[in-house]
Amino acid sequence: MGQIAAGSQQKMHGIWAGRWTFILAATGSAVGLGNIWKFPYIAGENGGGAFVLVYLLCIAIIGVPVMMAEVLLGRRARKSPIYAMSDLAREAKVSRLWCAIGWSGALAGFLILTFYSVIAGWALAYVGKMINGDFVHAAPETVGNIFSTLLADKGGLIQWHSVFMLMTVGVVAAGVTKGLGVAVRVLMPLLFVLLFVLLWYSSQYGDFSRGFNFLFDFDFSKLTWSGVLVALGHAFFTLSLGMGAIMAYGAYMPSHAEVSKTVVTVALLDTLVALVAGMAIFPIVFAANIEPSAGPGLLFVSLPVAFGNMDSGLLFGSVFFILVSIAAWSSSISLIEPVVSWMVESGRFNRVGAISLVGVTAWLMGLGTVLSFNDWADFKPLLGMTFFDFLDFLTAQIMLPLGGLFIALFVGWKMSKASVREEIAETTDIQFDLWLQMVRWISPLAVAAVFVFLLWDKFLSGWWAALIALI
Ligand code: PHE
Repeated sequence: MGQIAAGSQQKMHGIWAGRWTFILAATGSAVGLGNIWKFPYIAGENGGGAFVLVYLLCIAIIGVPVMMAEVLLGRRARKSPIYAMSDLAREAKVSRLWCAIGWSGALAGFLILTFYSVIAGWALAYVGKMINGDFVHAAPETVGNIFSTLLADKGGLIQWHSVFMLMTVGVVAAGVTKGLGVAVRVLMPLLFVLLFVLLWYSSQYGDFSRGFNFLFDFDFSKLTWSGVLVALGHAFFTLSLGMGAIMAYGAYMPSHAEVSKTVVTVALLDTLVALVAGMAIFPIVFAANIEPSAGPGLLFVSLPVAFGNMDSGLLFGSVFFILVSIAAWSSSISLIEPVVSWMVESGRFNRVGAISLVGVTAWLMGLGTVLSFNDWADFKPLLGMTFFDFLDFLTAQIMLPLGGLFIALFVGWKMSKASVREEIAETTDIQFDLWLQMVRWISPLAVAAVFVFLLWDKFLSGWWAALIALI
């Protein structure tokens, strides 16, 4: 089925020029706000070291195997996730219910986009503030105030959210292969370089050893079950897994490219960016006496302090936030690609029509996230969370891990071993079997175990204790 389908896919959406374009595009999707903004702040909120270790384990034993599974699904079907799953379910002669993987993925991507765009808007706003010199010689409190003023300013937030949404819509409308390939080829390497410049700065002027110990001292007493769920969810979020983005990109991957090596490269690059970002941020956090658990504002408070007090900080700072915006941009594109390519393939929309509809709806829903930081900050109807916190929880901690779980189950148990082997042809038999066992057992069981323990921790243990007390 591969060859014929590849032809029509190429006509409709284009196909990557080669393995490296796929690596760059997948890295562009993976490396984003998740690495530079979210990873440091959730590591801070969950006590550092032990959390980081669990996160790295999740990447290695769940993330990489599931990512290979997701890429192979896309490449085998050469369609957008929803149609891909329906073709593959037919090929495997199993229930059409497996298409739910595609549907829930498309929905998760859409929901993530609604808040992702708002946060990326903060980065855009910071480019202006940097160029303006707002942070020059600013003390941490001053920077903290600038950040809270930004959050309180609904109009400003909406304006930046709109700019970012338009940028995303623009590239997707032009077709993914054209705009994106170039962007990631030039800009991702630049982001790496700048992160290393920041790392150097924080090693010179920050409290480097304290930052290092915070991230790599494995003190398990600080870790909770919900921390483990956050780490697991983040492994999926940061690798763009469980929602079809990687499947959609896999559909454009040349047939001769090696899935295993490619996926490992993407995972390594993604992890490197997160760790370097953490090491660039925490020494500065400690030197400036900012709380590591400061939450979503961590990046937006600690780094401007560093830039403001650094030679040529104005320049580096502006470039840095431009690059963060670009990293977010290449991720947000992959968030809506699954929905948009499905709408186009359905034959009912053209690309521009589809993306306009999705863009406007996502923009509207994004207003809920904007308000979560000001007018609705104390409005917590859903599990005691703000609108933004709830969306983040629902997508990253529930939908993506569940999506990944079912992808693993589908590839491990439902597809014929021969079709799977065809897509991962480059590995030796032993490597292949090892991977297959991980996809069949380790990844699903690990995800399921975390859910069960969390349920126990949050609800059942209380009831159990009450029952024991009654007896
Ligand atoms: N991986 C992206 C990041 O870390 C976010 C993302 C999630 C993108 C899911 C696509 C799909 O920022």
